[in-house]
Amino acid sequence: MAKKTVKIPPDPFVEWFRSSSPYIHAHRGGIFVIYFGGEAVADGNFPSLIHDIALLQGMGIRVVLVHGARPQIVERLALRKAEMRYINGLRVTDDAALACVKEAAGAVRVEIEALLSLGLANSPMAGAKIRVVSGNFVTAQPIGIHDGVDYCHTGEVRRIDSDAIHHVIASGAIALIPPLGYSPTGEVFNLSAADVARSVAVSLGADKLISLLEGPALKDSRGRTITNLIPRELESILKRRRGMSEELRQHLKGAIHACRRGVKRIHLLRRQMDGVLLRELFTRDGVGTMLTAEHYEEIRTARIEDVAGILALLEPLEESGILVRRSRELLETEIERFVVVELDGMIIGCAALYCYEKENTAELACVAVHPDYRTGGRGDLLLDHMEQQANRLGIRRLFVLTTRAAHWFRERGFSGLPVKALPVAKRRLYNYQRNSKVFIKDLA
Ligand SMILES: CC(C)(COP(=O)(O)OP(=O)(O)OC[C@H]1O[C@@H](n2cnc3c(N)ncnc32)[C@H](O)[C@@H]1OP(=O)(O)O)[C@@H](O)C(=O)NCCC(=O)NCCS
Repeated sequence: MAKKTVKIPPDPFVEWFRSSSPYIHAHRGGIFVIYFGGEAVADGNFPSLIHDIALLQGMGIRVVLVHGARPQIVERLALRKAEMRYINGLRVTDDAALACVKEAAGAVRVEIEALLSLGLANSPMAGAKIRVVSGNFVTAQPIGIHDGVDYCHTGEVRRIDSDAIHHVIASGAIALIPPLGYSPTGEVFNLSAADVARSVAVSLGADKLISLLEGPALKDSRGRTITNLIPRELESILKRRRGMSEELRQHLKGAIHACRRGVKRIHLLRRQMDGVLLRELFTRDGVGTMLTAEHYEEIRTARIEDVAGILALLEPLEESGILVRRSRELLETEIERFVVVELDGMIIGCAALYCYEKENTAELACVAVHPDYRTGGRGDLLLDHMEQQANRLGIRRLFVLTTRAAHWFRERGFSGLPVKALPVAKRRLYNYQRNSKVFIKDLA
């Protein structure tokens, strides 16, 4: 006698953990350059941020931290009754300011190293044993004299010792880089931490540059956070939009620059959001803005505005008799049954699910991938997505009717069955002239 399987309700923790596993696998071994300003260090929640960074490192991500120290510098200048002078938007680092920069950078470094050294039992970093390495990774030069103004010890990045940083992160340590650079003449220069982070990310060919920013996120005209962009789109936002803070504008321009120089993904995140790194990196949609040079692709439930794209994909297949014809009207009324694969705004794949609740069965229909994009695993992606969706709906069996893709389904666990195995309602509509084959898969 066949054993009865008892369906145990899913444990939310287990479900959640499993849902993050594709990201854990994808990120392992990646080089992530993480930038944050001195404001983050001064914040009472800084230990939580450091714990999350330690967690990334624990998951095999190679981490480079680049920090700023602006509030700490301002504080030290104030003690000396001085302030940083800005001329034409550029800071002038005189001797007094440089002394404060050095002190502040040192203090911030010690603070970060101390937090990363934490390993007490019952703390989030118990057993972490993280090594942190800092050093003269950045060679700088003075920005010099502009319009007669000598900017003194304010510098710009000249070169990054990427070999040394690679060596550090390959050894399993975190590289910690302050907003300082050294010249071959032995001088110290005050640098913009954001510039340092960008230069480091470019020179390492980083997988990600993650900027934790102080201001609000990048929003669209309806006030929703813009989640994905390519450089061309970001440039047009920069041109159109007034009233953006100069700081955000500089970060966005820098992100475009880094993206065009080979950093695969740039994430702009709101630093104040608790757990922002984890939310961005281990959930499907993330919580910040991601700039990517590569094409942006996603699989999602279809919307009414996708109808034209789905029709364009299905029509050639209908004309050649591979799929059954569907009118635009029918597609519009059934749109929520479809999922689509969208690549840079174009629909390149789709599939639909028609449920027969009484029989706990669903038909998988209209599985199609644009001919230019086949054999790229998108068929599998659609099938996996639909199986998961069916599982969530409590569906136990999937069936397909196909004339040309029998083997494709057989290789994916479907078995051929006679037409009488179909749910009654579907059997009534079966077109014997078309003579499609019926394939069924029992879901786990
Ligand atoms: C079936 C289809 C969705 C697969 O899409 P895809 O993105 O190419 O799929 P994947 O990349 O996940 O899989 C590709 C593999 O399937 C194989 N394959 C593709 N079509 C096949 C078919 N009709 N029969 C058998 N194998 C097929 C490819 O050769 C490739 O195998 P390989 O990896 O060993 O080289 C796509 O070919 C298609 O749109 N076909 C027309 C529509 C159709 O017949 N739909 C099914 C009826 S609902």
